[in-house]
Amino acid sequence: MGDTVRFTLSERDIPTHWVNLMADLPPGGPPPLHPGTLQPAGPDDLAAIFPMALIEQEVSTEPLIEIPEPVRDAYRLWRPTPLHRARRLEQALDTPAHIYYKYEGTSPAGSHKPNTAVPQAYENAVAGVRRLTTETGAGQWGSSLAFACMLFGLECEVWMVGSSYDQKPYRRSMIQTWGATVHRSPSDRTAAGRAQAHHTTGSLGIAISEAVEVAAQSPDTNYALGSVLNHVLLHQTVIGQEALAQMEMAGEYPDTVIACVGGGSNFGGLTFPFLRRNIRDGATTRFIAAEPAACPTLTRGVYAYDFGDTAGLTPLMPMYTLGHDFVPPPVHAGGLRYHGDSPLVCALVKQGLVEARAYRQNETFDAAIRFARSEGVIPAPEPAHAIRAVIQEAEAAREAGEERVILFGLCGHGHFDLSAYDAYLAGSLEDPEFSEADRDAALAGLPKAPALT
Ligand SMILES: Cc1ncc(COP(=O)(O)O)c(C=O)c1O
Repeated sequence: MGDTVRFTLSERDIPTHWVNLMADLPPGGPPPLHPGTLQPAGPDDLAAIFPMALIEQEVSTEPLIEIPEPVRDAYRLWRPTPLHRARRLEQALDTPAHIYYKYEGTSPAGSHKPNTAVPQAYENAVAGVRRLTTETGAGQWGSSLAFACMLFGLECEVWMVGSSYDQKPYRRSMIQTWGATVHRSPSDRTAAGRAQAHHTTGSLGIAISEAVEVAAQSPDTNYALGSVLNHVLLHQTVIGQEALAQMEMAGEYPDTVIACVGGGSNFGGLTFPFLRRNIRDGATTRFIAAEPAACPTLTRGVYAYDFGDTAGLTPLMPMYTLGHDFVPPPVHAGGLRYHGDSPLVCALVKQGLVEARAYRQNETFDAAIRFARSEGVIPAPEPAHAIRAVIQEAEAAREAGEERVILFGLCGHGHFDLSAYDAYLAGSLEDPEFSEADRDAALAGLPKAPALT
């Protein structure tokens, strides 16, 4: 392919199935638990807020799950997304590494989130649901669900984390443009919001509690989650499947795959098809999860059962957690301010199949600026964490004098995050770090549940 920098597929190459990594993991892993009985949570426990088709995907161990035709049809609005070879970044870093990125910022909402918003809205519409509620951190997920609900004729109500609501007014406008309603969280519309009114900047955990509370109380309303759950990561595997085909077009295979982790969905989406190759075919790719030092779930959390939300309304999930009542500092990577992580990704970290690293806010923006000044794309603050890790790996390749192949997920653009870039360029961006005292305080509130080994 010579000096090609963009590898593009055609509409007919949109995957026909999602890759379910549950089929490749040892059976008998820790199940989610009902918070009252501490017994494994079954499909019935989830039926108050999710349609059965998504619950079936959540617990399925089938290796491949067919993508419904109306979902593939909607995917055609922006998929397949391009894979780029970052030749200009390679030159700027003077590295022998070959750097590739899968760019999800070309979706209508500007990130990977519509990949799951569309099938979630579709299955709810098929089940006769009238309205979906959700939370949003960076605003990427809320705008994606607003877009998907518009496609399938559903109403959509979004609780947006207070700090993001203030930092990103145009994400709100986007949500409203697609016809949805948005509230600042904590709000006075729910018991969970009123109980947390003193946490004025909000958190994803609080916003989830608000959205779940409203859905659980209204028979015609369901809840949709933008990350963490198995079915969400499943939907995102269109990213990795396309990337596999595009790496083949480039005639290379990655030695290292890197993505940022908030709840784990873009990480899982990009890596799972490659991880399946490691598990089934003996490939030896390394996987690196990049997270913020202000909310270092995978690198500093404990592996324990915890709630997915602040009010304790969700099942208990086996995951690395900083405690469900931990409210992370208002760093600009709002999508990474989550106290827990996908149980699937956590299990992979626990088994040593995935390595995790944490980065501070300023070093992350430094990486984002280097990327913008070489490749042009202004990244969202979340994938800037992945870019920080890529630069480290590319520098290590230079020191070793090795032509390593690095693939990373550029899961969204930063066009609505420019106030954060302003703060960085003005030198006024803070570097909050998670302290030992934060850790002790956060973990003191863990619910009573069986210990995990
Ligand atoms: C652009 C972007 N990247 C990453 C994330 C983190 O989520 P996940 O870890 O599920 O990909 C978010 C979440 O809102 C996001 O908006």
